[in-house]
Amino acid sequence: MPGLLRAAELDRPRIDGLIHSAREFARGTAAGDRLGAVVGLLFFEDSLRTRVGFEAAAVRIGAGTTTVTSLRQTTQMAIPETLEDAARCVAPYCDVICLRHPDVDAPDRISRLITTPLLNCGNGDDEHPTQALVDLLAIDELRGGIDGLRVAIVGDLLHMRVAHSLLLALSRYEAITVRCISPQALAMPERYARVFHAAGGTLQAAQALELDDIDIVYVAGLPRTPQNNVTIADQDRYRIESATVQRLAAHVRILCPLPRVDEIATTVDSTPQAAYFQQSALGLGMRMALLKQALA
Ligand code: CP
Repeated sequence: MPGLLRAAELDRPRIDGLIHSAREFARGTAAGDRLGAVVGLLFFEDSLRTRVGFEAAAVRIGAGTTTVTSLRQTTQMAIPETLEDAARCVAPYCDVICLRHPDVDAPDRISRLITTPLLNCGNGDDEHPTQALVDLLAIDELRGGIDGLRVAIVGDLLHMRVAHSLLLALSRYEAITVRCISPQALAMPERYARVFHAAGGTLQAAQALELDDIDIVYVAGLPRTPQNNVTIADQDRYRIESATVQRLAAHVRILCPLPRVDEIATTVDSTPQAAYFQQSALGLGMRMALLKQALA
């Protein structure tokens, strides 16, 4: 009954198995046979795709869901409730828990206390490993394989957790080149880059939107937040516009975990290179595969 706290837990056989299982679900050749199972959706940050995606995936494999989005606060009740206590109470009611929480250490704090498999659906600015699996499935589907590709990851690579998990997951593939494109102050943290390097991948860093020789453009996001000092000029500089797409080769595909603020102009949506809504749709099968594995 494996959970998933971080992308480093994903070895190649597990990734390949999940991609295979996701494809079977998408084709309708795998049965949803988890009738009576309960999926706990503990989402303490906003989420559309991940929360609704896991809820729909649960229903499609025959499971039910229960959702928690806030804990008791002192303003409402006499005693506030800790995440730890809440998790220990909810875990026995559930067969798998999907957790999104703003604290980086939340998955580790909880996993020490419960035996129910835990899927990390985003922990602060650290990781989002289930999204990385959706991304790998999308790349594999769009390019017919991942080994040997050249991937650009664009945005606030210091804070965007999707970028960290994708880089770690790509380290499991052969002859991969990743170009990390960001403002200098928002570069990919060394602790993730080191893992990718150690696995033999080629890692490049750029501050300009250099996409000439790239196969996959992954737009991780460049929102303006109190943490990152991103300016409107920065957003203008890294935005994918129609003119950007015209300079890309026909085979290039643009991915984005979404939501976008305006990192990709809506005029790009109708170009053959735009694949982010297809990527989002593929997430259903991958989340079914993840739940099936966790509920085995
Ligand atoms: N991609 C992603 O994590 O989207 P949500 O925040 O809507 O779940």
